[in-house]
Amino acid sequence: MLNRSPTWARWEQALHDRIRTMGVRRWRQFPEIKRNIRLSDKDHYIHYAKRCREIFWPDATPETIVEFGAGYGGMVEFWPAEVHIINLEIPPMIQVQEQYLVAERKLDLVEHGVSLLSIDDFRLIDWSDKHFFSAFSFTETTQEVWQIFMAEVFPRCRGAYITGSRGWNDGPNEWPWEELKGCFDEVVVCHDINLFRGVRREFCGTNNRQTP
Ligand SMILES: C[S@@+](CC[C@H](N)C(=O)[O-])C[C@H]1O[C@@H](n2cnc3c(N)ncnc32)[C@H](O)[C@@H]1O
Repeated sequence: MLNRSPTWARWEQALHDRIRTMGVRRWRQFPEIKRNIRLSDKDHYIHYAKRCREIFWPDATPETIVEFGAGYGGMVEFWPAEVHIINLEIPPMIQVQEQYLVAERKLDLVEHGVSLLSIDDFRLIDWSDKHFFSAFSFTETTQEVWQIFMAEVFPRCRGAYITGSRGWNDGPNEWPWEELKGCFDEVVVCHDINLFRGVRREFCGTNNRQTP
């Protein structure tokens, strides 16, 4: 758990707001923050950043990565410094990210090329030059959000790297990866053994680099 920063009061208020935004599965008050964010899993971040690099940009660095459901936003510290990052989150978590990255991690968001954007504004993004990244977040949304991203984002972005640990409880409890694979030729579905914890995790990606 984080030490409380001097500006905690501002941040704590946001966490107790009821969330009314696109596709958040639980409409009740935000549960304890430590249950939502695996801040200690820094080894995962390094692992995902490395896998993205190996799969999607072995020879070049992407210009922009959009992360969906970034939690505290700690992933920004693991991408190459020159990459512009857009963190797409629900509004209370955007406030948490701002507090965490600026007050706790002492990052200058402008200098680091980090933008924080509400999920409600995701349609403002021009996806054509963006790489999409998400770790363990789609399963916290309604299934409809996955379908919207399947229809509007994954075909348009340069590539998508998505990892998760299970399907939806309230829908057909299947890996959404299979659905994605059925729609796009470029989809790579990998069953990856996470060596750090001996836990089997799965991820998929689309690599649209050859799509005109
Ligand atoms: C389990 S946490 C994962 C956080 C981080 N990616 C990690 O791996 O540590 C899921 C995140 O998804 C976010 N989330 C849930 N529903 C969302 C939605 N509809 N749009 C954007 N983010 C959402 C939550 O706020 C939370 O930060």
